Amino acid sequence: MPKAPPAPSPAQLQALFRAARAARPRAHAPYSNFLVGAAVLDERGRVHGGCNVENAAYPQGLCAEASALAAMVLAGGRRARAVAVVAASPLLTTPCGGCRQKIAEFAGPDCDIYVLGPRGVRRAFTLGELLPFGFGEGHLPADRRR
Ligand code: THU
Repeated sequence: MPKAPPAPSPAQLQALFRAARAARPRAHAPYSNFLVGAAVLDERGRVHGGCNVENAAYPQGLCAEASALAAMVLAGGRRARAVAVVAASPLLTTPCGGCRQKIAEFAGPDCDIYVLGPRGVRRAFTLGELLPFGFGEGHLPADRRR
């Protein structure tokens, strides 16, 4: 695993939160009506937004976090330094289990995950808190790792 990058600056975090908020109204969520926006801050300080994209064949839907990670990869980003998720629920909208695993592909346990509501950050977690004892490339035989 590469060396941990420096902590995100306050300006980068503001850009991250803004991107997640901007992404949410773009969601395609006609089945659940639960709109989610997400954003990822990459190792070069760039921010990539994503929203959930549902499908009439329900299991084919994509979470906002997965779509933000796909945008990061497409733009050449390889590490997630921080992630933000925004929804309008009275409960904390933490990434689902599958998205925790997807984030872990690009981030270490120290990566901060910010859960936002309509009025801003509600709570921050580390990926390690949300995905303890996760499975990763370290479990694979050395010749299967990048
Ligand atoms: N969803 C996300 O996009 N991210 C989360 O963190 C939780 C759930 C989406 C999936 C589905 O489109 C809708 O929210 C309801 O589950």
